[in-house]
Amino acid sequence: MSRVKLLDREFELSIPEEKLLKAVDQVAEKMNKELEGKNPLMVCVLNGSFMFASDLMKRLTIPCEISFVKLSSYSGTGSTGQVKELIGLNEDISGRTIVLLEDIVDTGLTIINTVEQVKQMGPADVKVATMLFKPDACKRDVKLDYVGMDIPNDFIVGYGLDYDGYGRNLKDIYTVVE
Ligand code: IMP
Repeated sequence: MSRVKLLDREFELSIPEEKLLKAVDQVAEKMNKELEGKNPLMVCVLNGSFMFASDLMKRLTIPCEISFVKLSSYSGTGSTGQVKELIGLNEDISGRTIVLLEDIVDTGLTIINTVEQVKQMGPADVKVATMLFKPDACKRDVKLDYVGMDIPNDFIVGYGLDYDGYGRNLKDIYTVVE
């Protein structure tokens, strides 16, 4: 399938599944080395990162746990602008190594806010893993410990990412046709 139509927009194939999975292999390999003995708690930020989290978890050979969180649709205001509240992280994470699993870092605002909220819960360390990163869109100083791949600053769908709720099920990534 080289083109898909979702609602009112056309998208064309830009990153095939094989390439995505090779990137996940590399992230997993790095984590297996660097997080050995740290018993990390992987925190999957829903909805977009469910496919990345699933493929990554299958490749981790170190002891680890996973938990699933969401950001509330309610937005308040904080030091970094709009703040969405992190919901679902109910376990005691004090002293733990947390690895946030994100689908994509675009402007960087979401991940900065999320890291800030997790830090307030007293973990030993908070690391960030993102499947995709748009360096040209991200003007903030964001520390990304694991990046699947850098992509251009275009709107994409697939591999968990959506356009107005649609397209999350696509196994490959598609870019909007302008
Ligand atoms: P940020 O706060 O600008 O870094 O945006 C992060 C969130 O925006 C991601 O978790 C996605 O939900 C969404 N997002 C950013 N870029 C795209 C895209 O190209 N397609 C679909 N969703 C996106």
